[in-house]
Amino acid sequence: MSAVALAGRTVALCVTGSIAAYKAVEVARLLVKSGVHVIPVMTASGARFVGPVTLSGVCGHAVAKDMWDPAFAGELHVHLAQRADVVAIVPATADVLARLAQGRADDLVTALALCARGPVLVAPAMHPRMWDHPATRRNVAELAAQRRVTLVGPESGEVASGDVGVGRMAEPSAVFEAIAALLAGAPGPSSGGGGGDLSERRVVVTAGPTLEDVDPVRFLGNRSTGKMGFALAERAAARGADVTLIAGPVTLRTPEVRAPGRVRRVDVRSALDMRDAMWNALGRDLSGADALVMAAAVADHRPADVSPTKLKKGDVRATIELVKNPDLLGEVGNARSGGHPVLVGFAVETAGGEELVAYARRKLAQKRVDLVVANEASASFGRDDNRAVLVTHDAAEALPAASKAVVSDVVWDRVKQLWQSLRPCPRRLSRGS
Ligand code: CTP
Repeated sequence: MSAVALAGRTVALCVTGSIAAYKAVEVARLLVKSGVHVIPVMTASGARFVGPVTLSGVCGHAVAKDMWDPAFAGELHVHLAQRADVVAIVPATADVLARLAQGRADDLVTALALCARGPVLVAPAMHPRMWDHPATRRNVAELAAQRRVTLVGPESGEVASGDVGVGRMAEPSAVFEAIAALLAGAPGPSSGGGGGDLSERRVVVTAGPTLEDVDPVRFLGNRSTGKMGFALAERAAARGADVTLIAGPVTLRTPEVRAPGRVRRVDVRSALDMRDAMWNALGRDLSGADALVMAAAVADHRPADVSPTKLKKGDVRATIELVKNPDLLGEVGNARSGGHPVLVGFAVETAGGEELVAYARRKLAQKRVDLVVANEASASFGRDDNRAVLVTHDAAEALPAASKAVVSDVVWDRVKQLWQSLRPCPRRLSRGS
């Protein structure tokens, strides 16, 4: 995100008690350099790890530490929450994660997070055994389920004790990027909720499984929950895009966004239904959208015959004859000439590493798309976080494990780059001409 787009936004940067607190100073510096107003907030233990004078010096703003600060007339947490476009807790200890998950508000940091009017970002940092503990796993899952909270990291590596594992705080540059992505979608105090870097863009996102009926009570399906597609839709709308979300049968609520974009949801059941909805949204000439992101796990096959009545035990043969479904994304890839709309596919494999990238490259070429988001099934299906590799014709960018919201933001950032590098879309040309 450009510094111009960040300038004038406000971040409350909350430092809690971890050795990684020193990294918060660098995050503050990167934000300040981009023109962001940073209000430093510290817990008492945070202030033991890094000097408040250092932080206030970098931020040019006094450190807020005490809910009961006599120098402040009014409710400090409400005042800060009103000013901050994003509340970032960097680093976040296991203790603060637990208190956030419970909705506690017994110090300035937790009260501010609970009162935040925009997104809350947390960058956990702790010993790997603490991160791995079932209590922390439960708290993190709870936070990830709250759509307001975005987790960045932790990463795998050596921690302060010298032990190695997952628990290191994400690097300051990654935390900065994640805050910048949230600022792009967060409504500013004076923006009235308008704007967003994807405004005036129309995007189509597919999500969830498709179910292929055998008879009125039985179907063939897959394990997709739709979380990735819904996160993509939510982040695009939060950044101002007009989103058509084509959803297979899932139990998720349509994303509600505070920002200007909107999500129009079309529910479908089978691959053939999804195909109709997709072409309706795109239009035969593909002028209906600037990007198609196919996060749906479309069934590759369907039963050759669907019985109109329930098959009785005696009628069910040991084999169900299947026919191939059309490749929805491949059809659009073949129909497209030039770079409009940008096409993004997904590849979920049980393989990892080089093999995963090779499979993704094959899909990229076969379906004639611009970007394939490759995941290992075990690291993505049904989870709130994801570990993805973004594969293009000339690069494979491995992202750190992150919430699906954060991964979505990176995907939209790459789509934006593709819009810039590929030729302008016909809709825009005809509008201007
Ligand atoms: N896709 C599609 N139409 C289909 C099947 C898949 O548009 N009939 C899209 C998915 O939405 C996803 C990508 O294609 O974006 C997945 O590619 P695909 O080759 O179908 O993956 P797999 O089903 O995993 O294929 P394979 O079993 O060959 O790996």
